[in-house]
Amino acid sequence: MYKIAVLPCDGIGPEIMREGLKVLAVAAEKHGVKYETVEYDVGGERYLRTGEILPDSVMAELAQMDAIYLGSVGHPDVTPGILEKGILLKIRFDFDQYVNLRPIKLYPGVWTPIKDKGPEDIDFMVIRENTEDMYVGIGGSMKTGTPDEVAVQEAVYTRKGTERIIRYAFELARKRPRKQLHMVDKANVLTHGHGLWTRTYAEVGKEYPDIKQEHAFVDACCMWFVKNPEWFDVIVTTNMFGDIITDLGAMIQGGMGVAASGNINPEGVSMFEPIHGSAPKYTGKNVICPIATIAAAQMMLEHLGETAAAASIETAITEALASGKLGDLSTKSGIGTDAQGDLVASLVR
Ligand code: IPM
Ligand code: MN
Repeated sequence: MYKIAVLPCDGIGPEIMREGLKVLAVAAEKHGVKYETVEYDVGGERYLRTGEILPDSVMAELAQMDAIYLGSVGHPDVTPGILEKGILLKIRFDFDQYVNLRPIKLYPGVWTPIKDKGPEDIDFMVIRENTEDMYVGIGGSMKTGTPDEVAVQEAVYTRKGTERIIRYAFELARKRPRKQLHMVDKANVLTHGHGLWTRTYAEVGKEYPDIKQEHAFVDACCMWFVKNPEWFDVIVTTNMFGDIITDLGAMIQGGMGVAASGNINPEGVSMFEPIHGSAPKYTGKNVICPIATIAAAQMMLEHLGETAAAASIETAITEALASGKLGDLSTKSGIGTDAQGDLVASLVR
């Protein structure tokens, strides 16, 4: 019996979660996966009401879960950073979810803005380091708001943090048929921090002679996502660059509506979520594509070792997208969030 924490959070979070949970229930039932969910009221509304973000009592309960399933974080009445750091980054950091797994896969029938590229060209995996870099919050500012203002935001990289993510990426590359890994960095400028990445990649790489070891600077990587996405199989990169290139990746795979992610601690509690935000202006309008959230449930099942249930969701998503019945996946598709979830659920069934 798995225990799954459900955190719908802000904006369109509750709507997309409803569909994710709907599909999860059908897949679990079909494949005999037993689970219970515990829903937590965290997010902007609670913060505005009580001043609480993610109380220690909730963190203690999350620590006992088999997985965390999260909707989206961000509220228009809360200063940017408070909820992001207080919920999303707190969970990633405190549970040491050092791998952010972000598949970039164009499903058949989904429109990509990249001319003359299809599903056979866009199918790779970004492994984003998830606990270091500029995200650690080290820094400060002085003379704030004056013409002499100074602000410092440090990028922190450790040998341990760099090595474990690179190793994870090599292991993943080994499980995929192409046996290819790209490291994406900016070592031509960030010679200290990314020098560490370069040396670690080379050293760990000696243990993986079966893996083709490639490298791209992050600016060139962006160019190739658009020009030659077929060059990529597995990418390992830093937290900040991983954040940026996966939004670009989401666009070439058909939009934010389809891009899912897993925040993984291989030895601890992991969290699964769509990579998009809370889209406040669409809250309650039933227009958001829930596929990313449904795909996050698939990743969660995969992580729990429930491969058959996970595969049934992937097949249903593939069929739903190929059928054309989900329209263009945009907020203007005319196909409700609930109807999209219903379709995928019926295909799982
Ligand atoms: C993401 C998001 C988060 C990040 C924000 C909301 C803190 O953009 O998951 O990609 O920067 O990691
Ligand atoms: Mn992002």
